[in-house]
Amino acid sequence: MSSSPTLHTPLTAGTLALANRVVMAPMTRNRADAAGVPTALMARYYAQRASAGLIITEGARISPTGHGPVGQPGLHTAAQIAGWAAVTEAVHQAGGRIVVQLAHHGRIAHPSLLPHGVRPLGPSAVTAASDARTTPDTLVPTVEPNAMSRVDISETLDDYAAAAEAALRAGFDGVELQGANGYLIHQFLSDNANQRTDAYGGSAENRIRFAVEAVRAVAGVVGAGRTALRLSPGSGYNDILELDPADSYGLLAERLGAGQGGESYAYLHVIEGPDPKLTRLLRERWSGALIVNPFTGDDPTDPATALARLDAGEADAVSFARLFAANPDLAERIRWGVAPAAPDPDTFHDGGATGYTDLARHDLVQKGPTHHE
Ligand SMILES: Cc1cc2nc3c(=O)[nH]c(=O)nc-3n(C[C@H](O)[C@H](O)[C@H](O)COP(=O)(O)O)c2cc1C
Repeated sequence: MSSSPTLHTPLTAGTLALANRVVMAPMTRNRADAAGVPTALMARYYAQRASAGLIITEGARISPTGHGPVGQPGLHTAAQIAGWAAVTEAVHQAGGRIVVQLAHHGRIAHPSLLPHGVRPLGPSAVTAASDARTTPDTLVPTVEPNAMSRVDISETLDDYAAAAEAALRAGFDGVELQGANGYLIHQFLSDNANQRTDAYGGSAENRIRFAVEAVRAVAGVVGAGRTALRLSPGSGYNDILELDPADSYGLLAERLGAGQGGESYAYLHVIEGPDPKLTRLLRERWSGALIVNPFTGDDPTDPATALARLDAGEADAVSFARLFAANPDLAERIRWGVAPAAPDPDTFHDGGATGYTDLARHDLVQKGPTHHE
């Protein structure tokens, strides 16, 4: 049988078995408690979306110094691990698969949320022209980070490994490293946030080093087949400049394409920019599963174009963020041809159940299909 897969064809990504190719992209929703502990409301939110082939959680910080916005969950204390265990249990009971996105905000972290108000860490002491969410309604400018010493780098790699171990204890099916959107790994990959003159800066080989080492540290704990990486090649988000993304990302895909310990990594997850050439390049250089988060400008991805990407062989699965915020039953809606509801950005970044767990499943989906596929 040589017909191309549909969004409902199962997919094996590394050692992860996905029932379909409709993936929930990571979304920071800032509803953890003050100690970064995932709540019962979050367990409900994720369980409601369990018909996705794979849920990728919002970014969870690997350490206190990697802190993102207020309300972000962590994965570095016993209470946080217990909170996540309730989330994974709820998702598994509902028949879903869930991986955690491990995040370190690097220079985008803000001192007001860091232990003892210390300055954030970054590859170099270069301030991002960006902002940090320090209260639900306040965005403040980011500050100059401390350039990471070699000891800081090796401690941060240890934090990735410790968070991976915590992910296993919390019952996650795998781990996705946040290498996109201008956070720490992306800062190392860039030409502007990274001004280092040691083995972590300068050439493409050096700028990809931290990403490769972080992936290896995580895979050393959970196994390559359960380890994935998210990238946003060429994206300027959070004040990132990349002069030749084809060069650095091509090299990164090649280095990681070999896998680890005789096993392929689970998947590469690409946030596509306006230039599809970079996705094609990664497709060529990366031998494992590729999840594409299509570029659509301000519009959420149309499921029809998502299917076209699979048909064209450009992706093995497609991820949706905002449509999953608005449609807990998105995978079923796509399956039964029910139009998705429009997202409400006002509920994205804070609030309680409103726009989070109070969204109805569509009637047709509730009753189940009455027609044949
Ligand atoms: C509210 C919100 C929070 C997000 N948080 C994250 C995050 O924690 N990690 C990440 O990698 N991307 C994050 N993203 C980016 C999305 O995963 C996705 O790449 C982007 O929204 C485009 O996909 P879409 O068109 O399907 O929404 C976030 C997006 C939104 C709208």
